[in-house]
This record gives sequence, C-alpha cells and structure tokens, in this order.
Amino acid sequence: MDKVSINGNDIYEVDEEMEALIEAADLDGKVPEAEPQRQYYFIKKARRYVDELAKELGRRPLACSVAFGCQMNARDSEKILGVLKAVGYEETDSEKAEFVIYNTCTVRDNADQRVYGRLGYAGSLKKKNPHMKIGVCGCMMQEQVAVEKIKKSYRQVDLIFGTHNLFKFAELLCTMFESDRMVIDIWKGTNEIVEDLPVARKYPFKSGVNITFGCDNFCTYCIVPYVRGRERSRDPKDIVREVEKLVADGVKEVMLLGQNVNSYGTGLPDDKKISFAQLLNEVCKVEGLERVRFMTPHPKDLSQELIDVIKANPKVARHIHLPLQSGSTEILRRMNRKYTREQYLDLALKIRRELPDAAITTDIIVGFPGETNADVDDTIDIVKQVKYDNAFTFIYSKRTGTPAAGFEQVLSEEEIKSNFDRLLKVVQETAHAQSARFNDTDQRVLVESLNEQDASLVTGRMSNNTLVHFEGGEDLIGQFVDVHLDECKGFYYLGHRI
Ligand code: 5AD
Ligand code: SF4
Repeated sequence: MDKVSINGNDIYEVDEEMEALIEAADLDGKVPEAEPQRQYYFIKKARRYVDELAKELGRRPLACSVAFGCQMNARDSEKILGVLKAVGYEETDSEKAEFVIYNTCTVRDNADQRVYGRLGYAGSLKKKNPHMKIGVCGCMMQEQVAVEKIKKSYRQVDLIFGTHNLFKFAELLCTMFESDRMVIDIWKGTNEIVEDLPVARKYPFKSGVNITFGCDNFCTYCIVPYVRGRERSRDPKDIVREVEKLVADGVKEVMLLGQNVNSYGTGLPDDKKISFAQLLNEVCKVEGLERVRFMTPHPKDLSQELIDVIKANPKVARHIHLPLQSGSTEILRRMNRKYTREQYLDLALKIRRELPDAAITTDIIVGFPGETNADVDDTIDIVKQVKYDNAFTFIYSKRTGTPAAGFEQVLSEEEIKSNFDRLLKVVQETAHAQSARFNDTDQRVLVESLNEQDASLVTGRMSNNTLVHFEGGEDLIGQFVDVHLDECKGFYYLGHRI
C-alpha cells in the first residue's frame, strides 16, 4: 500500500494498480454498470467532495471508523476505512471527526444498546461541528426495527446501509454528499461478491481474509443468517490471489474468515469446487506466508481431512475454536446444532489426541429457553472433559425474528445468572490449568504490539493464540521470534527471548 501523491501531497492511500484504474474513470461519461469499475468511478467523484471540504477546513478532513462484534465485522471495517482513505480522509481514533461510521453487531442485545449510546454521543459532537457526518452500517442495520428507531430518534445520522451493499460504500458516500436528508440503502440479500476494492488494514503484518459470506445453518437462537444472508463462497483463486498480494505487502499471518468455514465450497461451480481442507492446503503453499488461522469451524462437519491437513502443515496455527453452545443433547436439538453431546465430545477428544499441542476454545450460551439446571450440569461436564484452553460464555439474548424467540423460558433470571456463574468458575479453573501445560517450553510468537502497561515489554501471539509478554522493543513488532515461556499468569505468559 503506497500513498499516492496528488499535487505533491501524500493524500490517497490505495495500491498503485488500483489508483491507475480509479484515475482512468471518466466522470464526464456514463456511470459504469460493472463492479468494481463503478466504485472506482465513485471513489474519484467522492474525492472532489472531500477535496472541497479540505479546502474549507484548511486541512484533510478526519474519519473515524468504529467496529463492534466479530472478526468478520473488523474485516469489513478495514474495507470501510480503505474507501475513506482512498477518497482523501485522514484516519483518527477519535469521534471528533468530519465522518464517523459505526459498523454494528446485533448478535446480542447489549451490542445494540452500545450502538445507541455511541450514536447519542456522536449527535452531541455533531452539534459542535457543522461539517460532521455520521454513518451507521453492519448487521444491526439489516433489522427493520433498528433502522426505524434511528430514523425516528437519531435524526443526526446521515447515512445508513447494511451488510450486503458494503461494496457500494463509495457510491453511497457520493449520494450522502449530494443529499441533505438521511440516505438509507438496505438490501435484503445478494449473490454478488465484489473483489478488488480498497482495504486499510489495522495491522501491517496480519490480516483477515473472507472465504465465505453469510450462513445457512439457522441455529434457532442466532440472528446471523437473517442479517448476513445466504452462504456464498469466494472463488478459491481469488482467495489465494488475495493472500499472495497480502504477503507481497508484508503480511505474515492470515485468518481465513467464514461463519462456518467447513462448508466452504458449497455453491461453487463444479470446476472450482474444493473443500475447506483443500483450500487451507492451497493457502499454506503461498511462499512467505508464515501462519494461517481460521474462524469458525462448525463441529457438525469438521472433517478428518481437515485434521490431517492441519497435522501436515506446520503453518496452520495450533488453535481450533469449536463452539459447543450447550452440552445437553436435548438443548442442542432445540438449538438446531445438528450434533449430540457424544458426537461433540468424540470430536473434541479426537482433536486433543491428534493435535496434542493445539488449544481448543469454545463459545457457550447459558439460559437458552427451556434449559434446566440439569442441562447446565451436562455443559459443565463437557467443559471438565474437554478442558478448554479458553471459553467465551454468554447469557442467552432473545433476538426477534429467530425461532427461539418464541420458545418458553423455564428458569428465572436469577437461576440463569447463577448457572452462568457456576459455569464460568469451571471454565476459569480448567482454562488456567490448561494454559499452564506450556510452561517452560519454547514457542514461536508473532510480536503484535508494545505492552500496554510496561513499554519495555512486547506482546506476542503463540501459534495456539495465547499471548506472551517479554522484553523487547518496537523494532520487533511484526516479526516472528522464539520465546521461552517462564511463567503462566492464567490466560497469558511471561517469557524471554532466546
Ligand atoms: N444469545 C447469546 N449468545 C449468542 N450467540 C449467538 N447468538 C446468541 C444469542 N442470541 C453467541 C454464540 C456464538 C457467538 C458468536 O455468540 O455462542 O457462537
Ligand atoms: Fe458478527 Fe454476527 Fe455480530 Fe454480525 S451479528 S457482527 S456476523 S457476530
């Protein structure tokens, strides 16, 4: 990624190849219909609006992109920031900016509430800055009630769009600049996957790479299939090409992203169809790439082929995130998870046997409608047997429009909270014991940052996703180094470089 100089100033951050295509757009001609050419046209057009604003301000306008939710959303926000930089905004962390965009999550209600809080705050900032524009996008905007609420109660918002038309962001920015009303564009779904748009990565040395979009699993508690749409797989050639470009740009570690990576390939034409295990193998072949992660596999179809590919490829990170959700077969059935507690346990223990150095982490929901104390006992029993390296525990949150929203609760809020607490206690105990098993070993880590508390330390990530703090300076950031683990501190280690 280079900065492109216009009139001697470093302004637009896009790669040179893309810049040539953007510059080639003819603003006096017809708007191209094909993508991504259409967006290149609008990037060039948006630059005029942003340049005008820059003249008025006497400096580059600032843009702040705030992401809620999962890795998928974090990656989408890098695409948003890519366009904002390509049209001439300068990035800032502060919401005191000329353009602030919130990329929302709606997986649980508390994610929604945080967005409303931030929109209120942004509204107060806008009163002080007449040039400020506010955008809201992402999963929550795919729900009509949320959009209605913003239209009614958050009138300071200038632009709303959803998950399916993110690729049109440059075009929507132009519409926003040309309108004095709230611009709203929400699509119900799409089959389109638009490649080759600008991306501004948060880290120069690691990156997410989308492999599928959407989800077809319809777990009964989950809003994702409704807000992210039907599952679509990217062409494997496009994925490998993106990884190669990232590596050429300095990336050493990629994370392959999909709601259910195991089902990668379904829907691709026969001549392109490959399994996730085959894709992983292809990605590992990219020279210069040092580590590959993936998120998230569904336990119902994690294949032996995948385990074999991981085993044979030292580049694949030793970390499997294997969402359990519940350890009760009856609750799993009502969640539509398509596996029993025995099937899950067999798989998890097989991974422990075949990939002994891999960390296994999980997601668990407590308080699913109909769940009893005995069901939670079953969940705790699985935690004790698998001994997760880490587990994310959530209290069930009712999502309107999902089947489970109509299921009846049998436990009180207090009982659910107490089940949550007893699960958390076991999770913490087992996770602590589990991470300590690497004490006194040597590990290769990718150094990600300076330590937040102590600037003489850096923080690196092990293959199994655990963090290690050790002495070192800024020059190590983005490098793979070998570290000896001296002391386990629960969820992280202290170590020294060897
Ligand atoms: N309530 C609580 N947790 C949920 N998750 C998904 N939907 C809900 C919900 N309605 C959790 C699941 C999933 C993780 C990303 O979020 O555990 O794996
Ligand atoms: Fe990610 Fe799901 Fe939240 Fe959307 S709703 S941001 S897909 S976790």
